[in-house]
Order: sequence, then C-alpha cells, then structure tokens
Amino acid sequence: MSRSYRVGVIPGDGTGPEVIAEGLKVLAAIMHGFDVETVPYLIGGDHYLRTGETLPESVLADLREVDAIYLGAIGHPDVPPGVLERGILLRIRFELDQYVNIRPVRACPGMSLPVARVAPEDVDMVFVRENSEGLYAGAGGFARRGTGDEVATQESINTRRGVDRCLRYAFALAREAGRRGHVTLAHKTNVLTYAGDLWARAFAEMAVSYPDVSTDYVHVDAACVYLVEDPSRFDVVVTDNMFGDILTDLGAALQGGMGVAAGANLNPTGVSMFEPIGGTAPDHVGRGTINPLAAIGALELMLRNLGERDAADRVEAGVSFAVSKMHSMRAAEMGFSTSEVGDLVVEGATR
Ligand code: IPM
Ligand code: MN
Repeated sequence: MSRSYRVGVIPGDGTGPEVIAEGLKVLAAIMHGFDVETVPYLIGGDHYLRTGETLPESVLADLREVDAIYLGAIGHPDVPPGVLERGILLRIRFELDQYVNIRPVRACPGMSLPVARVAPEDVDMVFVRENSEGLYAGAGGFARRGTGDEVATQESINTRRGVDRCLRYAFALAREAGRRGHVTLAHKTNVLTYAGDLWARAFAEMAVSYPDVSTDYVHVDAACVYLVEDPSRFDVVVTDNMFGDILTDLGAALQGGMGVAAGANLNPTGVSMFEPIGGTAPDHVGRGTINPLAAIGALELMLRNLGERDAADRVEAGVSFAVSKMHSMRAAEMGFSTSEVGDLVVEGATR
C-alpha cells in the first residue's frame, strides 16, 4: 500500500489562496509513491467578518488529527491588529505546541540579491526561532487604560524547559548533513539580564552535550549588521520568539525577499504547520503578481518533514529551475505571473 497523508490546508487571507493554489499544483505534479488528501479550512479574515469566529473549536480538533498543516497567510485590513494573528495563527502554534519555528535562509546560485555585496553562496543558514513563549506568550496587561495615567506591560516569558527544547533542536540540526556544525545564539544579554542570562546559561550547558558542535554568541543588534555584511558566518542561529520574528524578516530580504521565504512551525512529536512567511500582501491580491515560491518552499519543508525526501528534492530542483528563469523575486517584477512561476516549478520538478 502506498503511503498516504492528510494535510489540513488553510489558504487564509490576501494572497494566501493564490500562493497555496500554486503549491498544491506543484504537489499534484510530483506526487509519486504516496498520496495526499487535502482538507481545506476556509478560516481567516472573511470568515471572521461574517461570523465573528476566528478558529472554531471543531477546526482546531480536526487540525490535531492531520499529518501536517499547510497555511497561506493570516491578516485582514478590516480586522483590528492581533485578532486574527492571535486568534488563528498563534493559537494554532500554541495549541499544537509547535515550539520551534524553522526558517531556512538560502539563496540560489545566480540569484541577484537585494544586498549587492552579498554572494548567493554566502547565504546558507537556518534560523531556529523559539515559537511558544517569550513576548508572544501574551503576559502583561493594562492599568488605567485610556487615561493619562495608563500603564501597559508586556512580559517576556522564558521557561528553562521551553528554552532547552528549542536549543536542543538547534544543536541537533547543526549536526545534520548539509550543515556546518555551528550554532550561534542571538540575544541581548547586555540589557535583558534575566531572560538573556537564562538563555546564555542554558546555551552553554547544552553545548557540553554537543562537543562536536561549535558555538558563538552575538547580540541581536550586531546580528543585523553581520547578516548584511558577513552572512557566511552563520550556520544555525537560535533565538527567542520576538528576536526571531525580526531577524527572519531580515533573513528573508537577504535571500531575495519575502517572496521566497518559507517557514516551518514544528512540533517534532505532533502536528507541524508549514507557511510562507511573507504575509497577506494586500496590494497584490487578485492580480497574479505575487511570488508563489515561498509557499512552494513551505511545501518542500512539509514533504521533507513527512519523510518524502525524493518529492522534496524534486520541488527544490523545480524552484531552482524557476529562479533561473525569473527576472526578480519581487512581486510584479518576476517576468512571469504567479501561475506561470508555478508552471516553471512543475516543469523543473518533472524534467
Ligand atoms: C510571522 C508573522 C507572525 C509572527 C504574525 C503574523 C503573528 O510575522 O510568522 O513571522 O509575528 O510570528
Ligand atoms: Mn514575522
């Protein structure tokens, strides 16, 4: 019997449905030796505006049972900030305990990159972003809201257990084939003397169990400089939730732009979720101008995670082929429409 998977698909808002359609087109073209049953969930901004629901309990219950989740983008201009992000995206990450967010930053040879001095060969790193706590935990509150005396606090929660499991993932990843056995911790220990101290001690102690993995530490602000000036120094970069959010957007720009950046929200023993990290791109909705490569890259990550290595390799080859034909990775400047880029990937993946 052939292997078979159930994948929950959340196209979501904005250009999400357009890029997910291309990913599913590529999946259909390369599916050999296994089957994927896709189960669509039409939640997001429109569903919320119609019904007041963000993530219905029945959908969450279903998502606990699938083999993987493939998500487009969440966010809507008519919905106040935070409602959909917290109510859907972060809720799935937290409820399914997808505690690491893996964001590979790699450029294809021959690609022209936004930072002129950076050569594609020098861009090959993976961010391991802690994905279940930190400033994202939602701790804090208001006092005297709306008055001249108001106070808002937003606290970063860092548990030793949460930090350790993220660090362990990063060290193990550094040992994998294709990696260079190096882990960098990015934090802000010179100012965040509690959270930073916990991270730095946990990092040093974890390193003892991985004597073959080399380590270094950079302050997160300096990491921004190094990413632009000397990205080849990074292999695996581990960091907390908020710093990881910010650094990975810079990483995305470095690798060619949001149009190519993919991420995986992993629960190594549960259900993981794969998504392009570029957001809803409201200016490009319905125009066929958005770059689907990030969503197709997320598909590749999903296939690899499911253990379908050959299929993932085919997607990767298809993406390289498409990149070699495209004028730019930027939306509306690709030289092709969204679906033509999807066709190029299919062509390159099935040659
Ligand atoms: C990301 C996004 C999300 C985050 C938002 C949409 C909640 O920016 O996946 O990087 O901050 O994690
Ligand atoms: Mn982000």
